[in-house]
Amino acid sequence: MEPGAIHLLRWALYTDLGLLFGMPLFALYNPGAEHVPRKLLLVLAIAGIVLTLASLQLTSAAMAGASAAQIDPQLLGMVVGQTGFGRAALVRLILLSALAAIASITAKNGWLATMLGGGALLTLAWAGHGNSTPRPGGSIHLAAGLIHLLAAGTWLGALAMFLRLIPRDVEVCYAALRRFSTVGTIAVIALAASGLINVVYQIDLDQRGWGPPNVYERLLLLKLVLFGGMLVMASINRFKLTPRLAARSAATGIAESGRALRTSISVEFTLALAVLALVGWLGTLDPAS
Ligand code: HEM
Repeated sequence: MEPGAIHLLRWALYTDLGLLFGMPLFALYNPGAEHVPRKLLLVLAIAGIVLTLASLQLTSAAMAGASAAQIDPQLLGMVVGQTGFGRAALVRLILLSALAAIASITAKNGWLATMLGGGALLTLAWAGHGNSTPRPGGSIHLAAGLIHLLAAGTWLGALAMFLRLIPRDVEVCYAALRRFSTVGTIAVIALAASGLINVVYQIDLDQRGWGPPNVYERLLLLKLVLFGGMLVMASINRFKLTPRLAARSAATGIAESGRALRTSISVEFTLALAVLALVGWLGTLDPAS
C-alpha cells in the first residue's frame, strides 16, 4: 500500500477535525460572529467519518500486509478491539456521528459542536506518536500531544472563519481580530511549549549524537520554518493590517484594507495546511531513522 495514501488521509483528517473544532470554537468567543453554517458542519462531520473509515481500512490492511481493497471484518474487529489506534477511531466515529446528527437538526449548537469536534480531534493523538512513549513519561507526552492538537485546531479554525468573515462584515471582523489577538497568542504559546515537549520525547539526543539530521528531523525543521512563516504573517495581520482596517483611511478604503487582510490571512492559512501535511508524514516515520 502506498505510504502516500496514508499521509494524505492523515493530512485530510488533521485539517477536517482541526476545522470541526476551531470553527465552532471561534463563534463561541466571538458572540457577534455568525454561527458555522449547519451544512458546513455536516459536510465536515461526514468527511471525518469517511476519512476515519478509510484510515481504519488502510491501516488494518497495512498491519496484515493485505491489499488495501480487501475488507476483512475480523481483522478490522481485531484492530478496533485490541489497538489504541482502533479504539480511538471508534470513539471518533461515535462523536462525529453525534455531531452530524445534531448539525442536521440545528445550527444553534455552538457548545455541543465545539465539544464533539474537540473530542474527535483529540482522538488523533492515538494515530501518531502522541501515545508512543511508555509510562510514566508517556502521560506528559500524551498531554502535550492533546494540548498541541487543540492549539493547532484553534488557530486553523480561526483563520478559516476570518476568510469567511472579511468579505461579509468588516465591523464584526475587526472586533473578532481584536479578540483573536489574545486567543491567538495563547494558541501560539501552547503550540510552542507542547511542541517542544513533543521534540524532547521524539528525539533521543543521547542516542542520535552529532550526525547530520535524518529525514524525520529535516521534516521537523521544515515544519518549524513554516511555523515561523505563520508567525510573520500573523504579526503583519495584527500590527499592520488590522490597524489599517481600523483606520479605514480615505486613502485605502474599507474594500482595499479588507482585501489586503484577506490575502495575508489566505497565505497564513496555506502555511498552516502545509504544516499539517508535514505532520501527516512525520507521524508515520521512525524519529530515530
Ligand atoms: C514551535 C512550534 C512547533 C513545534 C516545536 C512542533 C513540534 C511537533 C512535534 C515534535 C510533533 C510530533 C510529530 C510526530 O512525530 O508525530 C508535532 C505534532 C503535531 N504538530 Fe506540531 N509543532 C509546532 C508547531 C505546530 C503548528 C504551528 C501546528 C499547526 C498549525 C502544529 C500541528 C501539529 C499537529 C496537528 C501534530 C500531530 C499531533 C498528534 O498527532 O499527536 N504544530 N509537533
